[in-house]
This record gives sequence, structure tokens and C-alpha cells, in this order.
Amino acid sequence: MTGQPSAPRLTKVPQHVAVIMDGNGRWARERNMMRVQGHRAGVDSVREIVRTAGEVGVKYLTLYAFSVENWSRPKTEVSTLMKLLAKFLKDEVPELNRNNVRLQAIGRITDLPKAAQDQLHDSIEATSKNTGLTLILALSYSGRVEIIEAVQSIIREVKLGHLDTAQIDADVFKHHLYTRYYPDPDLLIRTSGEMRLSNFLLWQLSYTEIYVTSTLWPDFRREEFFRALEDYAKRQRRFGAVSS
Ligand code: IPE
Ligand code: IPE
Ligand code: MG
Repeated sequence: MTGQPSAPRLTKVPQHVAVIMDGNGRWARERNMMRVQGHRAGVDSVREIVRTAGEVGVKYLTLYAFSVENWSRPKTEVSTLMKLLAKFLKDEVPELNRNNVRLQAIGRITDLPKAAQDQLHDSIEATSKNTGLTLILALSYSGRVEIIEAVQSIIREVKLGHLDTAQIDADVFKHHLYTRYYPDPDLLIRTSGEMRLSNFLLWQLSYTEIYVTSTLWPDFRREEFFRALEDYAKRQRRFGAVSS
């Protein structure tokens, strides 16, 4: 795009980036706007980060869009978020296809209103042949619920005689998580300065590099994303071993 900063030369690019998109409400409050206007502005950041991730060669981008706990927000905020979600899913399909992005979703998808669910399935189907970036939206997501559902699924397999308890290890467990098809995130970004996971990908983030910025999500754009990627490129990952 014209006037946009070009991608820096990165010595290594994370294969999977996960993002806790936080701070829409504070962004709106700073401007004396309604919280939902912050969510609307946040959609523009989503579009820009998806495009940029694909451009620099990230293979998986997981965005925490709505948590199970977020259902406890005021009804009007929840319903606006669900409408924004359905609209985003519909409007973005041409752009996702242009950029070869495949859409996926994790979470308790059946908790979403029917209109959002239907649109989600249509958009997933419409982008399913794309081979570039995989964009994974975490919707009605809870890391604890995901782990509990994995345990229930493993118990079912054991009861059916398809699995022996002695075979259960980290690899078997991973295959019962929503994220069974994706590698664990290499980089986690959280905007708006909070130093917490808020129930996001509790199993998968065990060895992920964490980048927290005070920038609020609607202000988190291309340049700031490059800063996070440059920071990641300097990290030395050891996974509990000693460096050679
Ligand atoms: C993140 O922004 C969006 C969602 C959780 C859906 P917030 O709505 O949490 O914004 P703050 O944290 O109140 O500023
Ligand atoms: C985390 O943000 C959830 C999403 C970004 C969807 P929250 O704003 O809900 O988290 P807390 O309340 O600050 O922990
Ligand atoms: Mg928040």
C-alpha cells in the first residue's frame, strides 16, 4: 500500500503468532466515544495485521476475539460485537481470498448467535482452498474449557477401548485440543499493557515468547507489529535446555 512502511528484514519470522487484542474500550473512552466505537476501530487493526502477517510469511495467526468470560458484558455490547463479527466475516471474504488467507475458528462456536455461526461457516468454506496464512479466530474461547473438553474426549476414547490410559502423553493430549491442526504459537502479543493471559491458549503458550505493548488495539497497526516481530527475532529460545 502507498505510504505504508515496508517490511523490515527479519532474521527469523515466527511461524505462529497469537494476539490478545485488548484495549478497544479504553481507546474509545479516551475519545469520549462509546465502547462499541472502539470495537469498530479495532476491526481496522484486524484487517491490517492479517494482511501484514501474510506479507512477512507468518503461517498461522490466532486472534483472541471473544472469550467465554466476555458473555458477561452488558447485553448491548455483546450483541454489537456479534453483529460486528458477522459483518466482518461477510465483508472480508474477497480480501481474504485476494491475499490467499484461509479462515478457521476455535472455541465454543455453537454458543454464537445463529447468524454469526452461519456466516462463519460460509466464510470458512469460501476460503478453505487458500494456501497462504491460516487466520484462526478464537470465539467464545476459554483455555480451561478447551482443556476440560480434551479430557472428556480422551475419556470417551478410553471407554470405547480406542485408547489405553498408558498411551496418554502430551502428544495424544494435543490431538484432543481445538488447536490439534496447528503448531503452538511462537509469539504472543498482548496490547493495552495488561500482563496476563486471560484464559487464552493455556496449554499451547507453555514456551511462547511474550510481547506486551501499552498500545491499545485500535492503534496497533503495521509499524507496531513490525516492532514486535523485530523483538521476537532477537529472542533466544531455549525450551529449558542450555544454549550451545
Ligand atoms: C478487547 O477490548 C475486545 C474484547 C475483549 C472483545 P476491550 O473491550 O476488552 O477493551 P478494554 O480492555 O475495556 O479497554
Ligand atoms: C481478553 O481481554 C479477551 C479478548 C481479547 C477477547 P479481556 O479484556 O476480556 O480480558 P481481561 O478482563 O482484561 O482479563
Ligand atoms: Mg479488555
